[in-house]
Amino acid sequence: MKVSMIAAMDRHRVIAKPEGGLPWKLPRDVKRFRDYCAGKHLLVGRRTFEEMDGWFTDHKPIVLTHSREHDTGLGQTAHTVEEAVTEAFEDGAPELVVVGGGAVFAAALPFADELVLTRVDLEVAGGDDLEDYPRFPDYEAEVEWETIHEEHHEADVENPAAMNFLTLRRVRPSSLRPGRLHLL
Ligand SMILES: NC(=O)c1ccc[n+]([C@@H]2O[C@H](COP(=O)([O-])OP(=O)(O)OC[C@H]3O[C@@H](n4cnc5c(N)ncnc54)[C@H](OP(=O)(O)O)[C@@H]3O)[C@@H](O)[C@H]2O)c1
Repeated sequence: MKVSMIAAMDRHRVIAKPEGGLPWKLPRDVKRFRDYCAGKHLLVGRRTFEEMDGWFTDHKPIVLTHSREHDTGLGQTAHTVEEAVTEAFEDGAPELVVVGGGAVFAAALPFADELVLTRVDLEVAGGDDLEDYPRFPDYEAEVEWETIHEEHHEADVENPAAMNFLTLRRVRPSSLRPGRLHLL
């Protein structure tokens, strides 16, 4: 089973406004997100799940939460990334897609084989403190990735910022999860 992460971020890896919600309207990126996620098992943070209420109609979302309540009202939940990966694996999923937000991306990065990224040519924070903004982790800091797909799009009438679509593959596959144990 493959673990991937899909995210859109600005030049400083900002993924959302401090109060929640995307800092841009980019239908081209929304389409990429929809197309990539269609029908798949997804790992989603409790905050993003609530923000995207009603969106997960065609998917199998697993919601990451610390809550141990019997009925969280969140559907299928997991309390750790390991648990979510095991649940998806045991469910026969060929892929688990981590869809964010920031806290979940940070926790799941060590498990990811592929990153499906949209690098948006914007600086969302302006003069504000970057600490206040949810961000994608510094994925290039400790892991080597090879670019397997790259596509540039200029800004246009519907998409007011230029963006790069990137697909990156971990050079050495992560051994942290089911389906990879035979490689150890
Ligand atoms: N640009 C993008 O690609 C993109 C993608 C997705 C989301 N977003 C944005 O990101 C923002 C939300 O990001 P966020 O970081 O604030 O919230 P988040 O990651 O969506 O959700 C955070 C919550 O998930 C649970 N959680 C996170 N890590 C966990 C762990 N290791 N173990 C157990 N539970 C864990 C906790 O839920 P409990 O509090 O229930 O314990 C935590 O409060 C939203 O505004 C959304 O619009 C952007």
